[in-house]
Parts: sequence; structure tokens; C-alpha cells
Amino acid sequence: MRILVTGGAGYIGSHTLVELMARGHEVSVVDNHVNSSPVVLERVRELAGRPFESHVADVRDTGGLAAIARAFAPDAVIHFAGLKAVGESGERPVDYYDVNVGGTLSLLRAMEGAGCGRIIFSSSATVYGEPVYLPYDEDHPLAPVSVYGRTKLMAEQVLADWARAAPGTAAIVLRYFNPVGAHASGRIGEDPDGVPQNLMPYLAQVASGRRAALRILGDDYPTPDGTGVRDYIHVVDLARAHVAALDRAAVTAGAEVYNIGTGQGYSVKEMHAAFCRAVGRDLPFEIAPRRAGDIAEMRADCTRAARVLGWQARHGLSDMAQSLWNWQSRNPAGYRDRAEDPA
Ligand code: NAD
Ligand code: WQD
Repeated sequence: MRILVTGGAGYIGSHTLVELMARGHEVSVVDNHVNSSPVVLERVRELAGRPFESHVADVRDTGGLAAIARAFAPDAVIHFAGLKAVGESGERPVDYYDVNVGGTLSLLRAMEGAGCGRIIFSSSATVYGEPVYLPYDEDHPLAPVSVYGRTKLMAEQVLADWARAAPGTAAIVLRYFNPVGAHASGRIGEDPDGVPQNLMPYLAQVASGRRAALRILGDDYPTPDGTGVRDYIHVVDLARAHVAALDRAAVTAGAEVYNIGTGQGYSVKEMHAAFCRAVGRDLPFEIAPRRAGDIAEMRADCTRAARVLGWQARHGLSDMAQSLWNWQSRNPAGYRDRAEDPA
């Protein structure tokens, strides 16, 4: 298939490109690199062993996007491009709605012009909000607590209305839980700008000496060891879910939603211990207050993805930790030449 990939230079997009290329798909990437380096695409080309086209463009530029889409004539689009920092979303709500909701609308217009009616969308477990029951299934009430979460929910609603209105179109919404880890090659991985806001990238920078110690944000949650529990998913498994979703989009119509996780929850302390095992030494941590808006426990029911998409996660916790350390130790400054803000 011919796949237009927005945000393809990002963390999840780059890993998905590798899987798409390995299966013989033709891809075209659109990314404005607001949160990624163009070097990523060179590394993906190297891993894939063949070229693909890429465009530096903003998804909100409907005219530019429409021209790219008309020329490439995609069979389907995978829409990763978006802003994703939960804290920042509260400070810059207009930017977040503009990119995450406006960008999705702009993309749908561009797809219309190119006669493309299939889209896979990156949504998030954060659309569920405080759990009414666990594990979350796709019918769990939706009550996001952040601006970021609300932009994702709105984009989901836009896609559902779009798919309902135009016969034969398909929108596959994937609600990712907590993606971690990196490609086994150690050539691509997660490379956050500035101080990492997420657990595993922060821990990785503690191991490589850029940060002094992990701050465990709360040890008084109602969980077995008091620290927050999440459903971490290896990014390569997540990438493979997009391949399965493309196959599904080719044979279905309307909007469908799938949780993408492992179904297994791990606490912050368990993640810390697993990463220490991968690194081969103890990494310092301190207990700090809870982070505002954090939920005690999040875990996915992934039976729908297994049943309908024929997809399930293959990689366990040690693979997640080892692949992250492999990436971090080979690229201590990420895609940059050197770390700009050592601890
Ligand atoms: P990322 O920031 O690494 O990748 C997003 C990519 O989109 C970046 O390359 C960025 O430069 C690009 N981009 C941003 N705004 C753009 C615009 N206006 N025009 C063109 N390109 C633009 O993030 P990621 O972790 O790879 O996440 C990909 C998607 O998955 C996002 O939509 C995110 O909200 C969603 N998601 C991520 C997580 C997670 O924990 N990483 C969890 C759930 C959902
Ligand atoms: C995991 C656990 C923290 C950092 C966020 C977004 C979500 C999704 C994924 C995009 C929690 C604890 C963290 C630290 C810590 N992104 N923690 N010390 O909060 O589940 O989800 O990323 O869609 O929308 O909210 O992930 O990695 O930030 O936190 O103790 O320095 O680690 O309290 O229990 P989270 P996270």
C-alpha cells in the first residue's frame, strides 16, 4: 500500500516507518520537525535499506498538504503529527487545539482532495481519565483531565463524524497506553527535548549521567507498592499495531477504536528495578510529591485488538528496558552531537 505518514520523524512514527518499509509498503512522510530531528529519517532509510520521500511541512497547511497528498496518491494515512506534552497543553491550549484538532481537520480536507478515505489515528489512553473500573475497555466513559486529552478526544469525535458521513471511509483510532523502549538496532529511539517529562526517558538519562536521580512522583497511591501503575508497551509492538490497523482499514468502513497496550500493569518501582537490571547497576532515586493530575493506576483491556486486528504485544518488560538502554547508551545525546543540558 501507499501510506502517507504525518509526524513520521517522531518517536512512534519512526518505529512504525521501519515496520511499514519491512512489509513492502511505500511511504511518504510529512513532518515540520517541531519535536524531531530530520536525522531520524536518514536512520530509518538506513534501517529499511531503501529510500522514501519526506516533506518538511505543517499539517495545518492544508494547501501544501493537499498538494503532497495529490502527488503521492496514498491508499491510507497514518496521523501521528501532534503536540503531546500534558503540562504544556494547559499553558498553550490554543496551540494544542490548533495542531491536534485543527491539524486533523486540515488533513481530512487534504485527503478528500486526493481521494483517500482511510486513516489510522494516534489517540491516547488519557482520553479515559480517572478509572471507573479497570482494566479500561474501549467502552469505558471518556473524561480526560488535561487539555491534551481533550484535544485527542475531540479529534476522535471529528474522525467518527467524518467516517459516518462519507460511505466507504474508515477511521481506525488507536488508544496507546505507555510506549517505551526502542528499535533493537539502537539506531532510533525516544529523544525528548529538554528535561524528560516521562518516566522511562528520565530514567534513561539518569543512567547515562545527564540527570542526578529519578524522582518517584508519589509513593502513597493505593497500589501494591504505593507508586503509580501503568501499562507500558514496547514501541515496536505499538508500531506493529499500525500495520495490523492498516490491514483492517482496507476491509472495513466507519470508525473503530482499539486499546493498544499489554494488559499488564507495572509500578514505578518495578520499572526502576527492571531498568537497573538492564543497565547492570543501581540507579539513584528519591521520593517526591505526587504530580498534579496523575492517576494511581491505568491498565488496558486489549482483547478487542487481539480479536479483530489479530494483534497482541510480544515484548515483555526486560525487552522494553534492554532496548531502551541499548538506544540510550549508544546515543547518550539522542540525535544531537552532544547533550546540551547535562545534570
Ligand atoms: P513525537 O513528538 O515524537 O512525534 C510527533 C511528530 O509530529 C514529531 O516528529 C513532530 O515534529 C511532528 N509534528 C508536530 N506537530 C506537527 C505539525 N503541526 N505538522 C507536522 N508535523 C508535526 O511524539 P510521539 O510520542 O511519537 O507521538 C506520536 C503521536 O502519538 C502523537 O499524536 C501523540 O499525541 C500520540 N501519543 C503518544 C503517546 C506517548 O506516550 N508517546 C501516547 C499516546 C498517544
Ligand atoms: C508514568 C508513571 C508518574 C516521571 C503520559 C501522558 C499520557 C501519555 C503517556 C501521550 C506515573 C511516574 C513519571 C518521573 C515518576 N502520553 N513518574 N517520575 O503520566 O502515564 O502518561 O505519557 O498521550 O497522555 O499523561 O506517563 O511516563 O509521565 O509517568 O515517578 O520523573 O511514572 O507519576 O506514575 P503517564 P509518565
